[in-house]
Amino acid sequence: MTRVLFVCLGNICRSPLGEGILRRLAEERSIPIEVDSAGTSDYHIGELPDHRAQRVGTQRGCEMTMRARQFNSSDFQAFDLIVVMDRANLRSVVRWPGAIPEKVRLARSFDANATSEEVPDPYYGDLSDFQEVADMLEAACNGILDEID
Ligand code: 4NP
Repeated sequence: MTRVLFVCLGNICRSPLGEGILRRLAEERSIPIEVDSAGTSDYHIGELPDHRAQRVGTQRGCEMTMRARQFNSSDFQAFDLIVVMDRANLRSVVRWPGAIPEKVRLARSFDANATSEEVPDPYYGDLSDFQEVADMLEAACNGILDEID
């Protein structure tokens, strides 16, 4: 069973959407997987996803009741694959104490049709930015499952 961790900055917008979407797609494709998400910051620990992420994820059939937590060194042991949203997340995670950089990849590297390498931070955007993030993550998650399967 492959264990996948999504990482963004706050763990309330992008990475919980990645978590919810991957869990749903894996179920649909009957691929056994363990999924979680975390943030590099401690800004929103214990919070539910941003209401816009909840709305967009729920609309797409995902359960969005996870609570934010901060990334920590033991995640390098607990997960096989650490999927980061942007270059800043990538830098933070590979510089973390105990880092295993080989396990860390940008989400959009799993999407052969991606036209940019980052999933942009939608926090200061609107609902359409969250929809765009969810579209990017659907494509990336299907790519992740293609590699695992
Ligand atoms: P996320 O979005 O990293 O996709 O969860 C953000 C959420 C909160 C903040 C920044 C980005 N913030 O600065 O509080």
